[in-house]
Amino acid sequence: MRTQVAIIGAGPAGLLLGQLLHEAGIDNVIVERQSADYVLGRIRAGVLEQVTMDLLAQARVDARAQAEGLPHDGIELLFQGARHRIDLHGLTDGRRVTVYGQTEVTRDLMAAREAAGLHTFYNADRVALHDFDSAQPRVDFVQDGVARTIDCDFIAGCDGFHGVSRASVPPAALQLYEKVYPFGWLGVLADVPPVSHELIYANTARGFALCSMRSTTRSRYYVQVPVDERVERWSDEAFWNELRVRLDSEARERLVTGPSLEKSIAPLRSFVAEPLRFGSLFLAGDAAHIVPPTGAKGLNLAAADVGYLSRALEIFYRERSPSALDRYSDLCLRRVWKAERFSWWFTSLMHRFPDTGEFGQKIQEAELDYLVHSPAASTALAENYVGLPLEDF
Ligand code: FAD
Ligand code: DHB
Repeated sequence: MRTQVAIIGAGPAGLLLGQLLHEAGIDNVIVERQSADYVLGRIRAGVLEQVTMDLLAQARVDARAQAEGLPHDGIELLFQGARHRIDLHGLTDGRRVTVYGQTEVTRDLMAAREAAGLHTFYNADRVALHDFDSAQPRVDFVQDGVARTIDCDFIAGCDGFHGVSRASVPPAALQLYEKVYPFGWLGVLADVPPVSHELIYANTARGFALCSMRSTTRSRYYVQVPVDERVERWSDEAFWNELRVRLDSEARERLVTGPSLEKSIAPLRSFVAEPLRFGSLFLAGDAAHIVPPTGAKGLNLAAADVGYLSRALEIFYRERSPSALDRYSDLCLRRVWKAERFSWWFTSLMHRFPDTGEFGQKIQEAELDYLVHSPAASTALAENYVGLPLEDF
């Protein structure tokens, strides 16, 4: 078959790109290695920037996120046993974030794609990218034992960190930047009311903790664990006990516990591959970069990338001009590196590092004290947390 844009991967980046292109009248097909249920079963991000909400609106898939998402005007930082509020709304001229799970974003995008009659090949095996150094690239794969080929103008590599797209680029054409952190996040999802109506980011002597949520009845909690920790070693009770001792006394009393719906450990990593374009192949989302989750930037960066890519493709087809496509990589990377910097900084500020000892802890507490009492420092945190604006081509 033939299409204008072949999209590899039906995560949030691939699905959102598909809808944005469809709204712009650009034909596209998605090829996904897993089943739709598998993709929906992954519990990941939960905080959407305004830029992401705007892109969902542009793709006309924002109705449920608007109706059911929880607008958050602030976050709380907990250190030395006390909580301090960062007024995101007041410090950023009225910007805010929306708590709405990646699972729900994905579900809404899949439903819109199906309603529009757009084609997605799930359970695609042996996905291979060909001739993307030419203007006639091709994607081959096998589905249900049948070999298939998609001829296209462009390939969008939205297939995550372990995908085939970045791996298909000759290594000499890629510059990789990476930092691996010596800890992971043990996360639990549970149908219990959140401990507080805003997110709590906690720096404690026992390590980082985060109190987040998916709704007013579903909570998402994380605790920092050593990088080699195994999830099987953590009963629900052990998790709740560890979370409880990392909270302040009021939160400790308010904490409602219950059986976990999901429990997993995510390693923390910073990673960027440059550039994001190789002839007719464009990388977007986790295929090109990873941030540690502390700043809640992973999903939002993926959305911003495909926002840029859909606009550049629209300009290409409307004006027959490659100028925006030529700028895609540079424009994305400017914003990506700022989010990488913010995520690295917030991770460094909030976690216990094995090699920095008591001195490191004191320095973190001094910076946190400065952060919550200096309007300049609070504003820098707030404007990055709510998300930096997209630039024009
Ligand atoms: P993905 O969501 O990874 O989607 C890529 C898709 O491509 C997948 O569906 C995959 O099956 C498919 N694919 C892979 N290989 C192939 C192939 N060869 N052929 C075809 N398809 C393929 N961010 C936060 O902000 N907060 C969090 O709490 C958070 N938690 C996370 C926990 C985990 C365990 C992970 C891995 C990530 C987490 N993130 C979090 C990051 C956030 O979820 C990602 O940044 C976001 O999913 C990126 O979207 P994407 O579409 O680029 O990639
Ligand atoms: C969540 C994850 C984050 O990394 C974050 O900073 C805030 C919320 C979450 O999964 O809810």
